[in-house]
Amino acid sequence: ARFTPLLAIETSCDDTACAILDAHGTLLGESVLSQEDHAALGGVVPELAARAHLKALPDLVELTLQRAGLELKDIALFAATTGPGLIGGLIVGSSYAKGLAMACGKPFMGINHIEGHILTPRLPAALRPDETAPAFPYLALLVSGGHCQCIAVEDTGQYRRLGGTIDDSAGEAFDKVAKMLGLGWPGGPALEKLARDGNPRAYELPRPLKGRPSCDFSFSGLKTAVSRHVEPYGRDALPRQVAADLAASFQQAVTDVMTDRILHALDMVPHVTSLVVAGGVAANTVLRQRLQEIASQRGIAFLAPPLQLCTDNAAMIGWAALERLKQGEIPDDISLAPRPRWP
Ligand code: KG4
Ligand code: ZN
Repeated sequence: ARFTPLLAIETSCDDTACAILDAHGTLLGESVLSQEDHAALGGVVPELAARAHLKALPDLVELTLQRAGLELKDIALFAATTGPGLIGGLIVGSSYAKGLAMACGKPFMGINHIEGHILTPRLPAALRPDETAPAFPYLALLVSGGHCQCIAVEDTGQYRRLGGTIDDSAGEAFDKVAKMLGLGWPGGPALEKLARDGNPRAYELPRPLKGRPSCDFSFSGLKTAVSRHVEPYGRDALPRQVAADLAASFQQAVTDVMTDRILHALDMVPHVTSLVVAGGVAANTVLRQRLQEIASQRGIAFLAPPLQLCTDNAAMIGWAALERLKQGEIPDDISLAPRPRWP
């Protein structure tokens, strides 16, 4: 309780987020601002994102404090994402949190964004009434626009990366294929919707790395295969049914590959008791269902945090800070620099 309530800031990509947690990890206040402009520009523009974080943070922190019914002086620790991510956003968010910490005479803690994602299933707000928090060790699949990796979570601070993508992330693959099919950005949700009207067996697409004794992923060959089927029609003349069939076939291929890779990962860590999934792609219902099936086949629990905690948020950063404090970690020193690449 010495370091709580704590205030956490997340600015590693395009969402500006702030959250306040108490000693039990209860979310006292939370706010997230998504940067809509990126959709119009078809992706995240790093420089614009950094400026938007800077513009948004003062009001967002104020709003989060109001929602928690607290004042700045009540906060006992300030945490922020210090990597991995876009350097501009990391500098803005962590400098802001350090500034608040200095001004209030309170400690600062820098948190790894990936650690935040993979510890989220243990956050009380991520659990449904019938669920219990996954105990260590568990297997985490992180699939989003920025990440695609499989991690054995042995304990707080003890992670083993079992594999990851060798080219695109799963989210990027969804976004790029969606773009080929004439859908907007982000493409994942639109592609899933269109796929409902398509036949998943209409096109024979490759299953990259399927069967390999590893937990690595590759999506670029799959993406190229889709583009070969789109080309004959030209960019704006793709019949809707063809697009729907391609969407469904692509989604099926991704799901098959993921299933195969996760089964391999589970062979590498047979001692895990749960499979958890996080990141924006975890919103995909077809993928979720398949992962659920694998988990029950293997007799382990399956957990997927609610969507707003699956995607980028600050609650996960605050929670990772709490888990580290629980382990006896002393808050970091203020001179800690952001690390855009932080494995
Ligand atoms: O975690 P997230 O919000 O942020 C990033 O790390 O970028 O993930 C966003 C990604 C996007 O690529 C988006 O297309 C994908 O998650 N996504 C989906 C679905 N919903 C979001 N992909 C497939 N199916 C979905 N339903
Ligand atoms: Zn993320």
